[in-house]
Amino acid sequence: MNPPVEERSQPLKVKMLHQLAVEMVVRMNVILKSARIYAPNNLLFQRQITLFLELVRKALAEAGEASFTTRAGTLFFNNIRLKYGFANYHFFKFILEEFRKKQIGGIRFDRKVAEGDLKTLMLVLAKVDHEAAQPFETLAAEAERQGLGHIGLEKMSPSELAAKPEKHSARVFFLGITHLEEAFAGQSRDEKIRLSTTRRLMQSIFNSISDNEYFVQGLTNIKNFHEYTLNHSMNVCMLSIALGRRLGLDRNELVDLGISAFFHDLGKLDTPKEILDKPSKLDEQERQIMEKHPFQGASMLVQFKDFKKLPLQAIHVAMEHHVKEDLTGYPRYVWKQSINLFSKIVKIADFFDAVTTKRVYRTSHFTRDEALALMLAQIGKEFHPVLLREFVKMMGVYPVGSLVALDTGELAVVVENNPEALFILRPCVKLITDAAGIKKDGETVDLSEVATGSQNYSRTIVKVLDPLKYGIRVADYFLARAG
Ligand SMILES: [Fe+2]
Ligand SMILES: [Fe+2]
Repeated sequence: MNPPVEERSQPLKVKMLHQLAVEMVVRMNVILKSARIYAPNNLLFQRQITLFLELVRKALAEAGEASFTTRAGTLFFNNIRLKYGFANYHFFKFILEEFRKKQIGGIRFDRKVAEGDLKTLMLVLAKVDHEAAQPFETLAAEAERQGLGHIGLEKMSPSELAAKPEKHSARVFFLGITHLEEAFAGQSRDEKIRLSTTRRLMQSIFNSISDNEYFVQGLTNIKNFHEYTLNHSMNVCMLSIALGRRLGLDRNELVDLGISAFFHDLGKLDTPKEILDKPSKLDEQERQIMEKHPFQGASMLVQFKDFKKLPLQAIHVAMEHHVKEDLTGYPRYVWKQSINLFSKIVKIADFFDAVTTKRVYRTSHFTRDEALALMLAQIGKEFHPVLLREFVKMMGVYPVGSLVALDTGELAVVVENNPEALFILRPCVKLITDAAGIKKDGETVDLSEVATGSQNYSRTIVKVLDPLKYGIRVADYFLARAG
């Protein structure tokens, strides 16, 4: 039997309320999605409302209050910051987007709340179009018209409305490049690299990925923004943290993984630029110089004055990121039977970013989906099978940033994958041309949506295209979202 409320310790109470709130978020997803499909008297809909009410009542009995609020893109329940893992990420994302689109700052349930109130709330939320000129005012007016009682709605604050999580993520991306540039320059002058700054940067990247993983994947479409190695290192760092997160590494491990990925090509500082950027194939001697960069990177890291703050894995990653799963590649690994887990993760992100980047010396480059197919052909030989499969799952059939042609004749950029396995071929896309091929700043559409009054999907992907052939800079669409 549960102990009485007052006997329960504070951390236990917080944990219990957190658990209740997570269940409510999941339940709210089901209700809002079914409210758009079923009539209000549908049994499934009714049942979900009853279950949701039970959770609200439990929270009210436990804490005397029950309210959801949002601040800085995070959801709170009774002022408890709600943390979510990968498994329930999309439920949270859906609710946070509902709040943002409808400009809701908070929803408060009072003690007298009944099934009828919840039903009204959900129907109003499902009915009001977020594209209305004043979404919150429209929502509040509709709630009043339908007699919503015992539930208070609060408007999002002006500062919250102006805040853009994407802006923060993009800022972190460019800060990362600047920091790495300083680290590279400092290293060549034998100055101290501030690893505490690197660590904080990794924490910010982790936060950005937790808040909006797809947007961060979108940012990795930024190529050749600055010197190749800097931009590439930042992309590899973000993709490695994202993959590590999917694999269940904890926050500290992800920060260490990020640092290791960030410095994986540090040794290229000592590789002559003529070799790094040579437009034709390297001769034997040049190849040997190029293949020294893992050794050089590892020895540079060992010489860091801040060495004690450096995760040991960073040395492994610098040394091993060109060693293949079957231990071929370079440097030759004859004295070791296996390579470090972090090296295997970084290797995947490194290869993906390298082959999807157009370089002067590379005769061909690959679109993001082609790169995944190429990598899958090397599963077990070049890449660890389980890790590669998880990476492919993370990137989706049409990775974020893919340029696609639709059956309507329109062109679009993939901005988000669909988390439902049933809809892996139906991501969210931003329309960038009309059916005649004229460029436009189109809307973002969910390809799993069915046209009103029809059984058919509104749009379907028919082909993946190479953005460079069409003169399209995919990264611009993500940067535009960051303002
Ligand atoms: Fe490398
Ligand atoms: Fe690399």
